[in-house]
Amino acid sequence: MLEIPNHTHQKAGEVSLEEIRDLLGDCKRCGLSEVRNNIVFGKGNPHARILIIGEAPGKNEDLEGKPFVGKAGKDLDKYLLEAGIDPNDIYIANVVKCRPPENRNPKAEEISTCTPFLREQIRSIWPDFIVTLGNFSSKFLLKTDKGITALRGQVFEIGHFKVLPIFHPAAAIYDRSKADYIKQDFALLKSLL
Ligand code: URA
Repeated sequence: MLEIPNHTHQKAGEVSLEEIRDLLGDCKRCGLSEVRNNIVFGKGNPHARILIIGEAPGKNEDLEGKPFVGKAGKDLDKYLLEAGIDPNDIYIANVVKCRPPENRNPKAEEISTCTPFLREQIRSIWPDFIVTLGNFSSKFLLKTDKGITALRGQVFEIGHFKVLPIFHPAAAIYDRSKADYIKQDFALLKSLL
């Protein structure tokens, strides 16, 4: 039931995002629940062709309960618009739904506790394209130890889904050379739509 979905065993949209949100409830399944303000479930078009998966909520996301509302989110919207993709057409979620303290990396057990819900979201939305932003998201989807630098710029087929690993926009805030790669990779995504 909680495997990454593929075309062999699941139809899209059998379980709605609302039902998955209800199942999550006031989640206390891991220690992040003790330090979060809000669960950040996801936002966007529930029938999106493109699902973008980030890492974890940051400070603003934790306060608002929505993903990518801070600087990285504003940059993400700019990259999408520049590529000719409407940010309102996509769905965005994260590998973990609660903010790790001080924005530390999510721990393995936090990821394994949280991602069954993300898998259900993937199955519900049934996008054609999944963009994985940064290392955690790319490793989760592609089940690889390779880092984002080695993965980006390629399209991986996982069952029904085409997966495009792209540098996290937050990484480009501190390293502008990554911004050009992000632009290239969103242009690649656009060309495939
Ligand atoms: N970075 C992420 O990976 N996710 C968010 O929701 C915000 C910033």
